[in-house]
Amino acid sequence: MILPIVAFGDPVLRKIGENIGPDYPKLAELIANMWETMYHAHGVGLAAPQVGKAINLFIIDTEAFENEDYPNEKKVFINAEILEENGERWEYEEGCLSIPHIRENVSRHAKLRIRYQNETFETIEEAYDGIAARVIQHEYDHCKGKLFVDHISQLKRRLLKNKLIAISKGAARVDYKMRIPATR
Ligand code: NI
Repeated sequence: MILPIVAFGDPVLRKIGENIGPDYPKLAELIANMWETMYHAHGVGLAAPQVGKAINLFIIDTEAFENEDYPNEKKVFINAEILEENGERWEYEEGCLSIPHIRENVSRHAKLRIRYQNETFETIEEAYDGIAARVIQHEYDHCKGKLFVDHISQLKRRLLKNKLIAISKGAARVDYKMRIPATR
């Protein structure tokens, strides 16, 4: 089932996602719905807060970037913890399904080490670099209540202010379902 994607301005995007156990209600269904929702919206990653669940869960599929340097990574990350970020910082233009039509350069470390659980709750520790590291950092941020626009300069943020307000009021035209924060 395709789920509505929460738009910028909804408080759930600012919550820290709680760790979960295998007994989390309808977890397999939630993950299946997140895949369907992500592909429908042509995303390369999706975090649970973006579908209204403040839990530490995200998915990535970097197939769109696949080439010799960047093999495809399609994975589910549960209870992820970034253990270390290193390597030179590099800028990459990021976007977000919760913040449509806005793209900004974000500087992040090139490499990371992460510990997480997969869908069967096996604990895995891995290192990533390249585009996969970038997507993981972006989605991991979502599970910490952080958005890519938090990484840009005050000035750029100020220039985006009206656009962000418009998104929170449902003004962004997208070809996927969005959940707009309740307006008072
Ligand atoms: Ni995002």
